[in-house]
Amino acid sequence: MSKLIGVLTAGGDSPGLNAALRGMGKSAIDAFGMQVLGFRDGFRGLMENRTIRLGSMELSGILTMGGTILGTSRDKPHRMPVGGKILDMTDVIEENYRNHHLEALVCLGGGGTQKNALRLKERGLNIITLPKTIDNDVAMTDTTFGFDTALGIATEAIDRLHSTAHSHHRIIVVEVMGHRVGWLALGAGLAGGADIILIPEIPYDINLLAEAVLKRSRSGKRFSIVAVAEGAVSKQDAGKPDKHKDDQSDGSTKQKTRLTSNTMRLARGLEKLTGLESRVTILGHLQRGGAPSAADRILATRLGTACTDLINEGRFGVMVAARGDGSEPVLLEEVAGKVKFIPVDHPLIRSARMVGTCLGD
Ligand code: F6P
Repeated sequence: MSKLIGVLTAGGDSPGLNAALRGMGKSAIDAFGMQVLGFRDGFRGLMENRTIRLGSMELSGILTMGGTILGTSRDKPHRMPVGGKILDMTDVIEENYRNHHLEALVCLGGGGTQKNALRLKERGLNIITLPKTIDNDVAMTDTTFGFDTALGIATEAIDRLHSTAHSHHRIIVVEVMGHRVGWLALGAGLAGGADIILIPEIPYDINLLAEAVLKRSRSGKRFSIVAVAEGAVSKQDAGKPDKHKDDQSDGSTKQKTRLTSNTMRLARGLEKLTGLESRVTILGHLQRGGAPSAADRILATRLGTACTDLINEGRFGVMVAARGDGSEPVLLEEVAGKVKFIPVDHPLIRSARMVGTCLGD
């Protein structure tokens, strides 16, 4: 009887998810004669037992597809909305897992998924995860698939926004995704030559930003580009209780409204302090759309095949972390609940400062 591998995609969608499904699925089938059963819409489909058999046909032609052919959700096994209530559905999930006689369950997801996967590991299920998110904030892995593609999208947007900035002598504030960490804003800001980069890790002083804009203006550069992570905050707002801090887990509009209003307030404040017109562009879910970059396709494929190798070896309870050109199984206990923030002395922070970028501090 060939081994049956369950797989699901959970959390925000991301470029590279289908490439990872393909890498894991094709290698399981072709290299090890296993079979693959997909669960729809993350942990919800596992609870509702909504499945699709993933064979060569289903896995063909998806390498370049954005999103996830399985669908996804942010639902958690232990706190699942059912019939208007929030219920612990872990027992049902475990029962479905055992009824399918799964050899293992592969979960593709970000930080929240790693935590949910650990809970199922603690129930005795054979779990393996892959690190997915455009935020690149999963701990213990060099990077996550989705990040490189989003970086390219945000960088191209910043390139294009230079046109209106220098034509109209404006401050262009471009909001980049990343509600907890600033990897995307820092990377795209550096790559796109932003004059100011604001990240959640470094609360900013708007007066210093205005000084930086006016200094550029006095030197004849009458425009500025501000790359701001959606989770960046001013010094006066830093440390205030974030009444919506859990909203992000269900992606509610309250959280996003608050984040975007921070960006709008920043742009208005800079306009007042400098006298220059400001305009705001919110990149939002554009950064998660479309075909994955070549780098993400390669990363997703190699992590997917490494996952199948581990299943074949009987190694479970780990995340397949990207490490250099290879990968490394890391215990879920070492990943779950941790966030990979940007160290304030990170080389990219130093490089940004050395090329004259204002980081708001
Ligand atoms: O976690 C990835 C991410 O894209 C964040 O950068 C962003 O804040 C969030 O998801 C958006 O969540 P949703 O897609 O549920 O609106």
